[in-house]
Amino acid sequence: MTTKILVTGGAGFIGSHYVRTLLGPGGPGDVAVTVLDKLTYAGNPANLDEVRDHPGFGFVQGDICDAELVGKLMAEHDQVVHFAAESHVDRSIDGGAEFVRTNVLGTHTLVDAAHRAGVERFVHISTDEVYGSIDEGSWPETHPLEPNSPYSSAKASSDLIALSYHRTHGLDVRVTRCSNNYGHHHFPEKVIPLFITNLLDGGKVPLYGDGGNVRDWLHIDDHVQGIELVRTKGRSGEVYNIGGGTELSNKELTWLLLEACGADWDTSVEYVTDRKGHDRRYSVDCTKIRAELGYEPRKDFATGLAETVQWYRDNRAWWEPLKERAAL
Ligand SMILES: NC(=O)c1ccc[n+]([C@@H]2O[C@H](COP(=O)([O-])OP(=O)(O)OC[C@H]3O[C@@H](n4cnc5c(N)ncnc54)[C@H](O)[C@@H]3O)[C@@H](O)[C@H]2O)c1
Repeated sequence: MTTKILVTGGAGFIGSHYVRTLLGPGGPGDVAVTVLDKLTYAGNPANLDEVRDHPGFGFVQGDICDAELVGKLMAEHDQVVHFAAESHVDRSIDGGAEFVRTNVLGTHTLVDAAHRAGVERFVHISTDEVYGSIDEGSWPETHPLEPNSPYSSAKASSDLIALSYHRTHGLDVRVTRCSNNYGHHHFPEKVIPLFITNLLDGGKVPLYGDGGNVRDWLHIDDHVQGIELVRTKGRSGEVYNIGGGTELSNKELTWLLLEACGADWDTSVEYVTDRKGHDRRYSVDCTKIRAELGYEPRKDFATGLAETVQWYRDNRAWWEPLKERAAL
């Protein structure tokens, strides 16, 4: 039997990779997907070109805050995988209203409609940023939520709202909290694609503060693997961390990107004023998803980064208009 999945934010970076994977050659084969996406600046229909002609693919342009539209779509689907969000921390520092609207109100609109329509499963994609910042060690899923930016605070709120529908109404809600993703089709405002595309153009890269902020990097293939494990084998009402196992300071990351693009530090790196409230380090403990669901990141960072750089070399037609439009 075919499972009908509503994927919100499926025209964005991670959501589109999830849809391409589900409907691609190695996909499960027993699913049909409808993407619901507003096509904000971050949504790109071209990200879905590969699957556009798949018989199990559908696309609806719309807002997750539109209760009428969402209610109608819920009635036609069995499961939801919810990626749609405002996702860029720097933009949330400039103004948080759209983050609260989409991430909080939008998630409530979806989860409430899912409950009313009797949807069988709701997978909510969240982030490690909801835990705050940690100098040593790693966060288990039971760690208190201590978000610092308007973005991560809105995501934390959406996690709580989604989980409340499990506790109150018994809706099968599963939450994933992943570390920083990287890979192809990543909007060029985020650090890895911004640095790669600047360097490919012979330009400079802006390094925040002292460059000592540490992130764990997760390839989108491994993130999708983790989401699928949670969707198909996870437990209702549970939170699962998903990490990549490659912790790097921004300075270390910059060295690797300079090397991959054939650029040198002195001519290419420009230190800029640190991001306000910049979290120092993120680190998720992935014991639960490894032990319970057999998750194991497969893509080593050196290979993943080399492939990513090559993709940006080969796909200027994808990113050049985006950078121009966003004045990056
Ligand atoms: N990128 C990362 O490293 C990362 C890490 C952890 C968690 N996440 C989470 O994963 C999810 C996807 O992230 P991403 O990097 O692919 O984001 P993205 O910004 O690339 O894509 C977001 C998508 O959501 C759509 N969207 C935004 N507002 C909408 C609305 N009101 N209604 C319908 N669609 C709307 C956009 O058009 C876009 O296609 C987000 O929930 C994010 O918080 C991302």
